[in-house]
Amino acid sequence: MSQDENQLKIAAAESAVTQVRDGMIVGLGSGSTAAFAVSALGRRVGEGLRIVGIPTSERTAAQARELRIPLSSLAEESQVDITIDGADEVEEGNLNLIKGRGGALLREKIVASASKKLLIIIHASKLVRQLGMNDPVPVEVVPFGWQVTARHLSSLGAKPSLRRNPDGEPFHSDSGNYIVDCAFESTVSAESLAKQLDHVVGLVEHGLFIGLTSEVHVAGAGGVRILN
Ligand code: A5P
Repeated sequence: MSQDENQLKIAAAESAVTQVRDGMIVGLGSGSTAAFAVSALGRRVGEGLRIVGIPTSERTAAQARELRIPLSSLAEESQVDITIDGADEVEEGNLNLIKGRGGALLREKIVASASKKLLIIIHASKLVRQLGMNDPVPVEVVPFGWQVTARHLSSLGAKPSLRRNPDGEPFHSDSGNYIVDCAFESTVSAESLAKQLDHVVGLVEHGLFIGLTSEVHVAGAGGVRILN
């Protein structure tokens, strides 16, 4: 990761974090950009900000605990005021997303769907004309019979690839599922693809976030732009 790219991630994270106010329930995203937002929130908590965080992954929960950000869960807090998270791709115009390269898409989507406001923080190279141009769509599947689920995904035009750890073993999400990365032709419409994926048996959730984004904070050479 270049120093410049990290500076852009920090700029996007700091921009979004300014919207967090005393007393808010805050969804804490996952991934390297969201980690900068969690750090910024930790700093503000140290300065007296009172918030409760809802982490979207075990890794984020560990970071938040280290920073002494008070945490809760969706069992106690059914509505989240604001969630700050990263994304792999953002489609210009409609702000639909691909998420899940970090494998946290299921919890990220549950927290996003319980949030009044979802702020996405990215650097400018993640803005695309059409989703799927650069990244496959990660889908979380139940390990049992995943090969059958993968065949269904192929029949929808995907090139499915089971995500593996460096030792060759399948990657497991925090919920114990597998992730299958699905490359699609870039001509596929994300909205209709999302509807088709919603009906695949064995598929727990997919990384297409349609109509969930409130704002995107895009950091580029000229500063941070807010798209909404
Ligand atoms: C985690 O599952 C993902 O959805 C991340 O939010 C996404 O991959 C962006 O991660 P980076 O900020 O590390 O690029």
